[in-house]
Amino acid sequence: MKTSAGKLVAGGRDVDEITGSRRLRRMRKADWSRRLVQENRLTVDDLIWPVFIIDGENRREDIPAMPGVQRMTVDILVREAERAAKLGIPAIATFPNVDLSLRDETGSAILDPDNLINRATRAVKAEVPEIGIITDVALDPFTSHGHDGILRDGIIVNDTTVEQIAAGAVYQAAAGADIIAPSDMMDGRVGAIRDALDANGFPDVAIMSYATKFASAFYGPYREAIGTQGLLKGDKKTYYIDPANTDEAVRETEQDIAEGADMVMVKPGLPYLDIVRRLKDAFQMPTFAYQVSGEFSMIKGAAASGWIDGERAMLESLLAFKRAGCDGVLTYFAPEVAKLLKG
Ligand code: PBG
Repeated sequence: MKTSAGKLVAGGRDVDEITGSRRLRRMRKADWSRRLVQENRLTVDDLIWPVFIIDGENRREDIPAMPGVQRMTVDILVREAERAAKLGIPAIATFPNVDLSLRDETGSAILDPDNLINRATRAVKAEVPEIGIITDVALDPFTSHGHDGILRDGIIVNDTTVEQIAAGAVYQAAAGADIIAPSDMMDGRVGAIRDALDANGFPDVAIMSYATKFASAFYGPYREAIGTQGLLKGDKKTYYIDPANTDEAVRETEQDIAEGADMVMVKPGLPYLDIVRRLKDAFQMPTFAYQVSGEFSMIKGAAASGWIDGERAMLESLLAFKRAGCDGVLTYFAPEVAKLLKG
């Protein structure tokens, strides 16, 4: 509509006047006003630190594909956990690089109450009780073929795998794990783990389900870290989700919540922020994302080449998780970013 003066009006107001008076840059003009209107914030409380453990004593090993990340023996992990707790990091998530001689067809070492992961939990709990411990319960660190399940005639057998994972979870809880995190994507594993925990006197141990774990290329450096890269034959497409699918990710998450998941996770992270947002909107659950090894190494690699500012890219990537709806992030950057946030 036009006035007699030929001006455009909308809702009784002059359009020039509206667009002219609406200046979004006003709140961006100073540091204080930018801080005042900032919608999302990353804090140390958002961080979960994934760590790699090895057998032995007083030893660290570099992981070439993950610059700055090291595998460490349990005694060193205890010291690192103490440092993390002092920085205010709420929890660590442990991943074992198991000696090849202890890996077999069925991943039976997951049922050893004294396996590397359980020894690490006990040691950290004894010395640093204030930090939360999240244990990954999956067969891949323990199988000679690097798959997350038991193979029969080339096929991952769902229910037998679930039984073994649930039993392994009970040992992890007995060792002191606070949160059990199944990363295998077998059907029914969350319910089976919940039942097993409850039946064995661990009703307060929580489950963080890797609710939507995609068959992703971004896990490459992790497989070097836990030593499965040379072992894995084929791929994990019969149990991880197709990266093309989003409704399926919602159905998978709905199922895990129905089975008793206390927290849900999206993995990988940054390429899947649409999934994070959908899950948060649909379920209002504590929602996490795993900024996986490949995402970490891309930022580290580009920064080492001088192509991006590594520190800013790290902070921006982590803030993006918050904006998408995450309550927290599993990230190899945790100690580095915690130090930075502490100022
Ligand atoms: C498997 C598992 C994977 C990761 C953690 N546990 C994926 C895989 O190897 O298939 C990936 C973590 C990362 O890339 O940082 N149970």
